[in-house]
Amino acid sequence: MPVRVAVIPAAGLGTRFLPVTRAVPKELLPVFDTPSLQHTVDEAAHAGIEEVILISNRAKPAIETFAQQATGNVRVRVVYQDSPRGLGQAVECAREAVGDAPFAVLLPDELMGDSSHLRDLITEHDRSGKSAIGLKNVPRNEVSAYGCVTPQGVPDATGRVGVRDVVEKPNSVDAPSDLVIIGRYVFSRDIWGHLAALKPATGGELQLSDAIGSLARKGGVVGVLVNCSRHDTGTPLGMLTASVDAALRRKDVSPALRAWLERRLSS
Ligand code: UTP
Repeated sequence: MPVRVAVIPAAGLGTRFLPVTRAVPKELLPVFDTPSLQHTVDEAAHAGIEEVILISNRAKPAIETFAQQATGNVRVRVVYQDSPRGLGQAVECAREAVGDAPFAVLLPDELMGDSSHLRDLITEHDRSGKSAIGLKNVPRNEVSAYGCVTPQGVPDATGRVGVRDVVEKPNSVDAPSDLVIIGRYVFSRDIWGHLAALKPATGGELQLSDAIGSLARKGGVVGVLVNCSRHDTGTPLGMLTASVDAALRRKDVSPALRAWLERRLSS
């Protein structure tokens, strides 16, 4: 079954961006001159997605305004998660809107250089019928910031590897590998039962990675290594470097920005 729907969770509190997130949702902060959420919607559309379901909460009315004005070849609608209790719960809010079709999930605080990785995940889902999740290699001392996978062997020449289990934020000594989950996924409908069965993790949140781990233990998950450029825009520094990178790629502003940076860094 083709993947036509994408879920983009945007109901979180954005505490790492306080104080700006008291007034502006972090998903609408600009990467240079374009809201990060628009980049994510564009990435989905370029991968062939026809409908985007934005998960928001009523304390973030600007997300709804964005949905009404979103541009591009994709329908955008909003579903609410009024008391955000984690990414697992956010995705489950889309259960009725998505139905039984396979669907993508894109986290808007990861900015991809292009839509090739999402296309790779869709291709892998088409091929295997399993849920496909984006993975990257990190140094062992960084695994504790991520969901870390127990792989079935090593990735093949195309970057595919079976996933046996997921451990959320392990310490570097106990981590099963240096392969961690990034914010791009394509799920088969099998994920819904695992989301519905989620129990609160430490901190009270319903974690998407716990549902993925539970599905993986049934043999339903394949990982695909990302090989396009990406930025983590979930922190102010990540957002700033993504903006500088985006501006340096723009012919209209790049010369002036370069000149300013060179002057600034040599003073
Ligand atoms: P994050 O954990 O990065 O977002 O979730 P956050 O909770 O808003 O950020 P901090 O930690 O307080 O700074 C990744 C994405 O998932 C959404 C967020 O809006 C963000 O786009 N999310 C997170 C939800 O939609 N619901 C949740 O319950 C949690």
